[in-house]
Amino acid sequence: SQLEKGGYPHFMLKEIFEQPNTLFDCIRGRISADGTKVQLSGIEDNASRFINAKRIVLVACGTSWHAGLIGGRLIEELARIPARVEYASEFRYANPVISSDDIVIAISQSGETADTLAAIKLAKERGAFVYGVCNVVGSSIARATDTGTYIHVGPEIGVASTKAFTGQVTVLTMMALAIAQLKGTISPDALRSTAQSICKIPSQIKQTLKLNDKIEQLSRTYTYVHNFLYLGRGYNYPTALEGALKLKEISYIHAEGYPAAEMKHGPIALIDKELPTVFIAPKDELHEKVVSNIQQVKARGGSVIAIVTAGDEIIPSMADHVLEIPSSPECLSPIIASIPLQLLAYHIAVMKGCDVDMPRNLAKSVTVE
Ligand code: G6P
Repeated sequence: SQLEKGGYPHFMLKEIFEQPNTLFDCIRGRISADGTKVQLSGIEDNASRFINAKRIVLVACGTSWHAGLIGGRLIEELARIPARVEYASEFRYANPVISSDDIVIAISQSGETADTLAAIKLAKERGAFVYGVCNVVGSSIARATDTGTYIHVGPEIGVASTKAFTGQVTVLTMMALAIAQLKGTISPDALRSTAQSICKIPSQIKQTLKLNDKIEQLSRTYTYVHNFLYLGRGYNYPTALEGALKLKEISYIHAEGYPAAEMKHGPIALIDKELPTVFIAPKDELHEKVVSNIQQVKARGGSVIAIVTAGDEIIPSMADHVLEIPSSPECLSPIIASIPLQLLAYHIAVMKGCDVDMPRNLAKSVTVE
């Protein structure tokens, strides 16, 4: 009903705008006021398992799998534990090598996805310790796992996941920091500065949401496009996948996410003036390389929408549309960069007249195979 949507035309838009609050709730009580400690009870209570883990396998479906890709990278980078990320539907039939030294992290908003639940059962049969990252309290996956952390972002109604994704990535970031702290693979200074940056995310998202009007305007240009390409590198390669998925799910426009450097191995063949490319290009280590990818797209007549760090002086002179986000450590940029991508998908879908809260053929939770 209108009342439940809190004055917004759709649940999806309400949920996008809730993110400063939902992430505040997600972080609350988990980072000490001085930023020197990240506390997640599921990790502290099982410290020796995490310290001794030989490998971490993350399993999930859909948007949760994209969060898993970011989480896996964070765990390897910060906690120095080899991590791989699998679709639950593939993992369950792959006869995976899993032992009692492995930790399996299952990520699910609903906690009811059949494939993820089956992957958990298999992992447990093979002796792994299973950790859940769920939103719905008391859900099947929350109960089937050995322990876990709730993302605490409140009920998500829109079929296309928004606030659950940013909550999942935030929890996985805090998990990676908590494990790194236990293992001593992060310096106290690096821990403190990353933890303090996490605490700034809610206000940075509030700032980023001010892009809404600009994104609504630019969406008009792209309403009748048939294909979209999303490119990003490092932590923002999964952001590109998630941005493309959002657009597909609710606007029915075909969209592909790719690591920007892989463009030359295929997608570049598609570029012409009919194919817009969204670049997730915040200032990071590989920024210059992404800049040259943008030049390659422009040289072939493609139009470019670029998500950049505020103050970027190079990309605005090249891109057709620029969306500025606040600066953050590289590993946190997917959380903030996702906001304009959610809004872009939303506005294009609304302009096309699509039912954004209940897209055709999709279900909020897939409880059968
Ligand atoms: C469905 C939903 C997606 C979601 C996926 C996994 O496909 O439409 O939004 O990402 O299931 O759901 P889960 O509840 O396990 O995160």
